[in-house]
Amino acid sequence: MGKKVYIESYGCQMNVSDSEVVASILAKQGYEAVDRAEEADLILLNTCSVREKAEQTVLNRINEMNRLKANNKDLKVGVLGCMAERMRENLLVEKKVVDLVAGPDAYRSLPHLLDEVGTGQRAVNVLLSREETYGEIVPVRLNSNGVTAFVTIMRGCDNMCAFCVVPFTRGRERSRDPYTIVEECAKLVADGYKEVTLLGQNVNSYRWNVDAKGNLKDPSRPVVDFADLLEMVALACPSLRIRYSTSHPKDMTDKVLEVMARHDNICKYIHLPVQSGSSKVLKDMNRGYTREWYLERVASIRRHMPDCALSTDIISGFCGETEEDHRATLSLMEEVGYDMAFMFKYSERPKTLAARRMEDDVPEEVKSRRLTEIIDLQRENSAKLMARYVGQVQEVLIEGVSKRSAGQMQGRNTQNAMVIVPRYGSAVAPGRRGLMPGDRVQVRITASTAGSLQGEPLIPSGPIPAEA
Ligand code: 5AD
Ligand code: SF4
Repeated sequence: MGKKVYIESYGCQMNVSDSEVVASILAKQGYEAVDRAEEADLILLNTCSVREKAEQTVLNRINEMNRLKANNKDLKVGVLGCMAERMRENLLVEKKVVDLVAGPDAYRSLPHLLDEVGTGQRAVNVLLSREETYGEIVPVRLNSNGVTAFVTIMRGCDNMCAFCVVPFTRGRERSRDPYTIVEECAKLVADGYKEVTLLGQNVNSYRWNVDAKGNLKDPSRPVVDFADLLEMVALACPSLRIRYSTSHPKDMTDKVLEVMARHDNICKYIHLPVQSGSSKVLKDMNRGYTREWYLERVASIRRHMPDCALSTDIISGFCGETEEDHRATLSLMEEVGYDMAFMFKYSERPKTLAARRMEDDVPEEVKSRRLTEIIDLQRENSAKLMARYVGQVQEVLIEGVSKRSAGQMQGRNTQNAMVIVPRYGSAVAPGRRGLMPGDRVQVRITASTAGSLQGEPLIPSGPIPAEA
């Protein structure tokens, strides 16, 4: 009987992608990935440290998982990812609550760590690497809809934003070989996937074939930057929709915008975290840009792609944030008009610049009130911007059955807006199949809310295959 592993991912898309690398490494050891913890011999939680609440959620989950040991004495529980380094003392040494701890750069050592665990020891590897990119590992797709997939293009982060724990949990920035990236994308196309999201903590600083000093590593090959990579993937996989995340505004070049504008298969959507609308707070956050500079980047995006959607991340109540700073964030939101935003209260993280040098001085209730104002404004903006699609015809890539009703399908337009359509629309003739995951359809948008669009599919130009 083969062994079974259950992997649960927390935090960002990067963790989802890493879990697929882990599944691939473990598959070679005879582990089959299962989607129920109760069936597993090995449970791995791929964890996030970005805010204190994320860590608390995982700690509760570890306790739940350990309770399953009562029914299965051979069950092992391990912690992967960003909490590994921070928690190894706590989890392994002091409390002995998990069997295994592996940091984001230590997944190749999992077979070895599992051997140790097999002999009754507790195993740990939280070493960070300057080189590891898992470049040639072909991920095993987990919980896949068969339509959209993530491909990691770089790891780590060198930015040192004052609030952010990532440089400490994921280490130095390094870029993956672009030829392995293109290969992975081509394989996804061959496997029937229709959309890929290129992932990294700061994809815009992707740079391959240069060393830390900026010298060429392999003279027989070119230097590849993010714009080059995007274009390579767009050209190699013309039928694939391409997205990417996350961008850092300070590294968002016109060259990238030109490539995006040039290729229809690169989606017109950019996630551009601003964090704050106040230049003073941005300076304290060590973000490397001002409000004016950010707005100029947004203007450049609009010049290159007038219909490009924008989303952002915003933190309320960072150290020293005044009412005036907060109002600057609200006014920047008005000025930019984000289609979508992820909004957070500042949460102090150990080791960060802010934790070491600044006082977490905005009272909790003020953080909360400011966050509510930000969320309310965003809801208004989202509703207004989504309404602009009503009456338009949009190309939608169907991802699967709608969460709300089995009679409806959901997908996204190029701007990443969720579109809900009837599975059997009036355009579908009787006896023909309804919409399927992976279909691309022209949809007339009939209604909108702040979170999604509703539409009616138009008759596709080609014949619809009869239902099998
Ligand atoms: N507190 C609150 N939010 C944070 N983020 C990162 N670190 C913190 C923190 N310490 C947010 C940022 C980032 C997103 C992934 O999480 O907005 O862009
Ligand atoms: Fe969380 Fe950041 Fe780690 Fe992603 S990189 S899992 S967001 S701490």
